[in-house]
Amino acid sequence: MTKAPQPRSPRLHTPKRSVSIVGTGSYVPERVVTNADLEKLVETSDEWIVTRTGIRERRIAAADEYTSDMGAKAAQAAMDQAGIGPEEIDLILVATVSPDMAFPSTACFVQKIIGAKNAACFDISAACSGFLYAIEIAQQFIMSQTYNTVLVIGSEKLSTLVDWTDRNTCVLFGDGAGAAILRNRKGAHGVITTYMGSDGDFSDILLMPGGGCRVPITKDNVEQRLNTIKMSGKEVYKQAVNVMLKAAQTALSQAGLKSEDLACIIPHQANVRIIEAIAERMNVPMDRFFINLERYGNTSAASVAVALDEANRSGRMKIGDYVLLIVFGGGLTWASSVIQW
Ligand code: ACO
Repeated sequence: MTKAPQPRSPRLHTPKRSVSIVGTGSYVPERVVTNADLEKLVETSDEWIVTRTGIRERRIAAADEYTSDMGAKAAQAAMDQAGIGPEEIDLILVATVSPDMAFPSTACFVQKIIGAKNAACFDISAACSGFLYAIEIAQQFIMSQTYNTVLVIGSEKLSTLVDWTDRNTCVLFGDGAGAAILRNRKGAHGVITTYMGSDGDFSDILLMPGGGCRVPITKDNVEQRLNTIKMSGKEVYKQAVNVMLKAAQTALSQAGLKSEDLACIIPHQANVRIIEAIAERMNVPMDRFFINLERYGNTSAASVAVALDEANRSGRMKIGDYVLLIVFGGGLTWASSVIQW
């Protein structure tokens, strides 16, 4: 008989090395687009959008404001809070589905803007789960003693991937960036565990088919809007609730904690109804969840990163609090982190 997989042992209070978030930052573009503004673009209503999603407005980047620019602004805020200079950063990870270009990586563009000349740089492609995937990669590099200081960014200019004639998707998304500085802090509180999962069988329910080698950029493909986000909303909704719940339970089990131990839960900010469904199944009151999606919509890899920074700066987490981050996204991908703040 095969033995059931055992949860990994908790990394709590690792004696020699542990990974702490020593600074967070975020940036959202100035331009606010309200639901009323979208009523002028597609057949929709503020009432429909608010009741189905909870979203009231989103930020849209300027034409000459790129994913790297937003990421660099969030990074600068995180560096300022951490009190570190750019030359101290060993690695820059940018999680994004809307990179400045296919290559070079957006991380390299960020490196140039902030002047982090000692860093290695690469991007993470895990859709909305990218920020937590990057947190886990950062943690592994720090625990293995390869690097001491890692800059993790989630940044998106989704407004360039949205089909602004498709009411099923255009009301959901927005632009923005969040960042965190992760560092070895001996014996300190920090990231206790991160769990990641994926299921490629669901790759067709949330995707942007055009722009890669399968569907290259041609006049015909652009006319068919294949270079925009396609989503089976109901299927995504169902899977999102399932995988986020599984992610939450797995991370809690790996950390040796229960949901009642959590002071704050920061979920992917896609839809308030998804969050309500998870709260109910976890038997955790909604006021334990940090929610800002009414102001920003879904900013994919930036979503949890921006929320983490806002929760941090608003004093929502106290030193020693247990915080759970949960995400899901195209792929499907999902992840969760338990952090002792
Ligand atoms: N305004 C008005 N009507 C709309 C709109 C709109 N913006 N969008 C869709 N509709 C219509 C549809 O055309 C459909 O009409 P029909 O029945 O005549 O065909 C109807 O509304 C569907 O209504 P509901 O069944 O009530 O919609 P539902 O409750 O499924 O809500 C939603 C739709 C909000 C998209 C929901 O399915 C959802 O949130 N899914 C998950 C979406 C998500 O989280 N995506 C991103 C996650 S991953 C990532 O972050 C990249």
